[in-house]
Amino acid sequence: MRAAEARAELARRTPRSRSIAAERAEILNSGLAANLEMPHPIFIDRGEGPWVFDADGNRYLDTSVGFGLHILGHRHPEIEAAIKARTELGWMFGIHTVSQMKLATLLHEASPCAERVVFCNTGSEATMYAIRAARGWSGRERIALFDGCYHGAHDYGMWITDPGSPVDAPAKLPMGHGIPGALDDLVTWLPYRHPAAFDTIRRQAGELALVMVEGVQSSNPQPETGEFLTELAAVCREAGVLFAIDEVITGFRLAYGGAQERFGVVPDLATYGKVLGGGLPVGAVTGRADVMSVFTGLGAERGIFSGGTFSGNPLTMEAGAAAVDHLRAHPEIYARLDAAGDRLAAAVNGFCEDRQIPARMNQVGSMFHMFFQREPVNSMRDVRPDNAAAEKAFYLHALNRGVLVPGTQRAFLSAAHGDAEVDLLIEVFQDSLADVQAEGLFSGSGEGGEA
Ligand SMILES: Cc1ncc(COP(=O)(O)O)c(C=O)c1O
Repeated sequence: MRAAEARAELARRTPRSRSIAAERAEILNSGLAANLEMPHPIFIDRGEGPWVFDADGNRYLDTSVGFGLHILGHRHPEIEAAIKARTELGWMFGIHTVSQMKLATLLHEASPCAERVVFCNTGSEATMYAIRAARGWSGRERIALFDGCYHGAHDYGMWITDPGSPVDAPAKLPMGHGIPGALDDLVTWLPYRHPAAFDTIRRQAGELALVMVEGVQSSNPQPETGEFLTELAAVCREAGVLFAIDEVITGFRLAYGGAQERFGVVPDLATYGKVLGGGLPVGAVTGRADVMSVFTGLGAERGIFSGGTFSGNPLTMEAGAAAVDHLRAHPEIYARLDAAGDRLAAAVNGFCEDRQIPARMNQVGSMFHMFFQREPVNSMRDVRPDNAAAEKAFYLHALNRGVLVPGTQRAFLSAAHGDAEVDLLIEVFQDSLADVQAEGLFSGSGEGGEA
């Protein structure tokens, strides 16, 4: 089937979604939120396990699972029961509640670096507070982040790599307008998985408050990340610079103890979000007691401000505790997620090799991302734009066959994705790749064109 036919089929099946899109486009601005851009507009009505259902009642196998947060699938009964129980007692007080201690204790025990825990409401808040804490504690203002990592929507993290800059010395550009130019000077931009990053950290040792990196880049999920993290932690330690692992995605996903457990690396600070909230908004900073002491209040030595109306709210705390408690009680989930992810990637990559299709799935555990090129992607600097039309068509075909890949194209499996669902994913991805190839949309394999 050609991409245009897939689009027409989808359009026929989704009249309600299309009318919502048409009516709401102006007030929702959804067309402008790049990370939500879907191959075809659909509006989700409900979710169940690994499935979501759109406004027209069509069912899709979900590989977004709420930007990765529903590691147990949609409407997990234990999480739902915890939310219901909390709503019968009141769900927001703005004062400490018993619910906070449950999740704080679980996180303290799960996160290898967590001598102390502070809750907030999103992953963006968590990384913002980790940066502030490091600045307060060290008395330094400069931070170092890596090309290709994402740490949330606050101004300090809003950078992309200037594509013309050298690989070992990437230059950064603000991600969109509205980012004050003055911040440019406070952020060092490091090459990911490149030894030049270590030299820069050593050179700037006296200036840097913090080096932060994702546990595994969600844009570029790879199993061979441990050696790099271990060396990075050692370089930061030698240089006397605080080191943070952003576990917003990897926390409770790559392992119960996140990237820290999987790769055996203990940072000074770690940030959390997503899975930790059981599906409700959450963020957390964990870390060494002496560094975390800055959160004790403005009166503390080097104290920083932290707060937030909804921080630690009991509804999130109960949902998160139910999810994390379930994961703690079922460690076999991680082995199953790893095996499912490995099987999916092997089947898709084997198919691409057999058929000479220039595409490849990068995957670690239950995180995966398709790249549409023959060359391996070790860092996002290796990504080539040549096959944009093929990529777009692939996701359109997958959606038409009932597999939803999020607009960010960073995809996840959940514990609710059983063998049958993984089989379906493999079949749909293979068939969709074959369709794109047959239409000649891969560059160098035909006339190409707009999907
Ligand atoms: C690694 C990482 N850090 C931080 C964030 C920001 O989290 P949130 O969207 O909850 O603000 C994200 C979001 O995807 C993320 O992937």
